[in-house]
Amino acid sequence: MLSDIASNDDLEKLVDKFYTAVQEDAVLAPFFAHINFEHHKPRMVHFWSFVLLDEPGYTTNIFDKHANMALTKEALQQWVFLFERTAREHFSGEKTEQAILRAKTIAWTFQEKMKLG
Ligand code: HEM
Repeated sequence: MLSDIASNDDLEKLVDKFYTAVQEDAVLAPFFAHINFEHHKPRMVHFWSFVLLDEPGYTTNIFDKHANMALTKEALQQWVFLFERTAREHFSGEKTEQAILRAKTIAWTFQEKMKLG
């Protein structure tokens, strides 16, 4: 029986497993080729902990962060697919569903704002 996302340790695990999948993915890996994951992962954990666990202090505009990336509809769909698969593989419950829903909503927002539809 899987437990729900409940702590920063859980989020570190989620982010870690997700980026392992991303780095093995032919569509997504090139976007992260220049990224230093030691710096990037704590920011992702902070983001998710702000969204799911009421951790304060995350103020980054994440649309701006992606605005200059050559994202495609296919890449966004793959991102969401891997995120959902990773989340469901390791966790189950209300917060897990919230995380998946939020990721899908943000991906859809990117798609609309960047006119990739
Ligand atoms: C094709 C899809 C995506 C790609 C290729 C992508 C790629 C990236 C990259 C390369 C960064 C690092 C930017 C930097 O540090 O300069 C980043 C940051 C980030 N991305 Fe994405 N992203 C995608 C979709 C998403 C989605 C759907 C979400 C929704 C949860 C998301 C959330 C974030 C967050 C929270 C950050 C960290 C911003 C920060 O605090 O520094 N990304 N992304």
